[in-house]
Amino acid sequence: MKLAAVNPQTIELAAQLLRQGKLVAMPTETVYGLGADASNSVAVAKIFAAKGRPADHPLIVHLAYASQIKEWAENIPDSAWQLAEKFWPGPLTMILNKKASVPLAVTGGQATVALRVPDNPVALWLLRVFGGGIAAPSANRFGRISPTLAQHVAEELGDAVDCILDGGACTVGVESTIIDLTDSQPTILRPGRITRTQLEAVLKTEVALKSQHKIRAPGMLAAHYAPCTPAYLCVTETLLALLEEQSAEGKRIGVLVFSNDLAGLPCQHSLQLPQQSEAYEAALYAALRELDALQLDSILVEQPPENESWSAVNDRLSKATL
Ligand code: TXA
Ligand code: MG
Repeated sequence: MKLAAVNPQTIELAAQLLRQGKLVAMPTETVYGLGADASNSVAVAKIFAAKGRPADHPLIVHLAYASQIKEWAENIPDSAWQLAEKFWPGPLTMILNKKASVPLAVTGGQATVALRVPDNPVALWLLRVFGGGIAAPSANRFGRISPTLAQHVAEELGDAVDCILDGGACTVGVESTIIDLTDSQPTILRPGRITRTQLEAVLKTEVALKSQHKIRAPGMLAAHYAPCTPAYLCVTETLLALLEEQSAEGKRIGVLVFSNDLAGLPCQHSLQLPQQSEAYEAALYAALRELDALQLDSILVEQPPENESWSAVNDRLSKATL
């Protein structure tokens, strides 16, 4: 699949492909999405086939404007409008009660729908020209690392996609925060750039954090966002001990370094990640992919800090490692 540079012609072509029920990969600020017309069940089914994703796993519907919530959800609580006002366009997905017209193919058979207005100029341009909702999961094979470059999508999904819009590197780099607003207490189903503290500040109520929730959500599975190479998350001393031990056995090891103490590590395949959480998030998936591509015996990931601003990173690392 050839990557398409973004211009008025390719945006028009991409919108046309969506109207024809075809698949278009688009950049968002979080990760690249594999998009289809969310009102077309046949088109949506192609997403599941391309990803190798079980059909009962629900998708996020991307919208151009917050006002479009009304076309997809009903019994919309005030909290949804408050969060949309504050965080959209942005890396926040809201779970709301779906309207009867929303295809069950999109919601994995559930009575709720996930909605988000992404903060990326290419995604917003396509959404505005297309006019409807675009159902889009991350544009990777099921269970694998999400793509943060158009090239990643091409490598992983290739000809299964009809067009890949190349919008450069995703600025946020980890998937959106998901908040369920269908219960009396709002609940975070997946941590992301927007933190619980930020959500509580807007909602002026306590937000719950679910590690294991009853609704099937692939991002909640233990092994997800995972490289093919066995990866281990460990504190600095353990990492050094493992590196020594495994290197002595002749193993080829990759290391994702966080702290400065490890900067000059005696290891051929070490990548230093930023010390600031937002920059770390933006670099994480590309770094994991880079090490994974080397087909090493294992990848050792140095444990970054564990406070709230690192919650998305720690969630993804715990799922990417054994
Ligand atoms: O940042 C993102 O959210 C990216 C970009 C492309 O927007 N998308 C993304 O999609 O990460 P995906 O399909 O890889 O993850 C969507 C998550 C899944 O864990 C899914 O189960 C959950 O959203 N989800 C969708 N609809 C849901 C629903 N009705 N109830 C609970 N979880 C839902
Ligand atoms: Mg995904």
